[in-house]
Amino acid sequence: MASTYGAAQVLVASNRGPVSYAVGEDGSLNAKRGGGGLVSGLSAIGSDADALWVCSALSDGDREAVRRGVGEDGVRMLDIPADVHADAYNGIANSVLWFVHHMIYQTPLEPVFDAEFRRQWASYETYNRAFAEALAEEAAQGAAVVVQDYHLTLVPGMLRELRPDLRIGHFSHTPWAPPEYFRMLPDDVAGQVLRGMLGADRLGFLTQRWADAFTACAEQFAGGLGGTRIGVHGLGADADFLRKRSHEQDVEERMAALREEIGEGRRTIVRVDRTELSKNIVRGLLAYRRLLETHAEWRERVVHVAFAYPSRQDLAVYREYTAEVRRVAEEINAEFGTPGWTPVVLNLKDDFARSLAAYRLADVALVNPIRDGMNLVAKEVPVVSDAGCALVLSREAGAFEELAEDAITVNPYDITGTATALHEALSMRPEERAERSKRLAAAATALPPAQWFLDQLDALRG
Ligand code: G6P
Repeated sequence: MASTYGAAQVLVASNRGPVSYAVGEDGSLNAKRGGGGLVSGLSAIGSDADALWVCSALSDGDREAVRRGVGEDGVRMLDIPADVHADAYNGIANSVLWFVHHMIYQTPLEPVFDAEFRRQWASYETYNRAFAEALAEEAAQGAAVVVQDYHLTLVPGMLRELRPDLRIGHFSHTPWAPPEYFRMLPDDVAGQVLRGMLGADRLGFLTQRWADAFTACAEQFAGGLGGTRIGVHGLGADADFLRKRSHEQDVEERMAALREEIGEGRRTIVRVDRTELSKNIVRGLLAYRRLLETHAEWRERVVHVAFAYPSRQDLAVYREYTAEVRRVAEEINAEFGTPGWTPVVLNLKDDFARSLAAYRLADVALVNPIRDGMNLVAKEVPVVSDAGCALVLSREAGAFEELAEDAITVNPYDITGTATALHEALSMRPEERAERSKRLAAAATALPPAQWFLDQLDALRG
């Protein structure tokens, strides 16, 4: 049977791939390369390693690229029917599994696991099977396959059946729910998810806390880990890339514009997030309002720079959340603003260079998620900020495990406590702030993306 095996020695599988396509007005296809830990991680193994990235077509442009046979070397995009993908991605991955692991259901009314859920679950199975089959086709004998995230929990088990010779890893970029919350899923679905994951030789998590939660779920609902090993790999910030990129011309230009918006001599509290329910942007704004109420001395002297970039806008609850962020920001500006001072500078348009500009200007970084796999912003701002920044950090972010010591830590639900933390951060002596920021940057860059990825490969093969 060896002749039917593919050629790839290292395979990555994820919903979103490293490249996306858009159809231009003249009908031509424009490719756009993405960034992120996985992209720089995979580039570390070099181009001669027979690596293949299997991902899903996400847009009409992507589907057109697949149909025209256009593609990048080392990337295979799967043209999964749009309705199947929407059910799997929006319906199950983002509306169920994401909600479970981040524990963000408003439980008196949701979730409701009805016939519609069952229909979407069938699509999730189809979508996972498409990945498993493509991987089985492309992988060389004994190759290493690393499957990413909650979109693809069934793939390891399916692939194990098709290709017992492979070394299969899975990495979760999200938290994992504790058993009391995970058991909200219908028993058969919970079992399928766990057995799917346990088809892997090795499961990777961002922190010990999420790894322990998975182990507890496996013990309670799937009879234990069996032969599956567990590892923790705390993805760090890419210092070399960030330091270089944040000093390019477009970032300098945006710094000048931002300075103008902020006003001379004012402190900045910076946050940069996707507009994501788990990021807790609204409570961040409420804490800032509390700060202005209780510490009137900061009025006119501080600006909250909040960048909240659109995410998952196919889901109504994300659109509503974005509207709420905007409403609260406007309310604060109406209540406290003066002719020369806008207390909240909110921007909803994604602009990476401007994010880096804000990082460089940050006196305080606010990272207060309800629950977060890691949160790379908490790791990136100390690396990039010009004068060193004070970090206000939620104890529910994965980054807390590595950064707690030099951050000012908060309970994300506690507005009063977060307001006090913001005051403390703004009041920190410059020398202390610089020292802490240096230590934060060192901890944040301990495991750069390339090493993060290579460690997983080594462990999988070892
Ligand atoms: C965040 C999470 C990842 C997830 C990704 C999906 O980065 O940390 O776990 O895979 O979002 O985002 P998307 O925009 O593709 O839904």
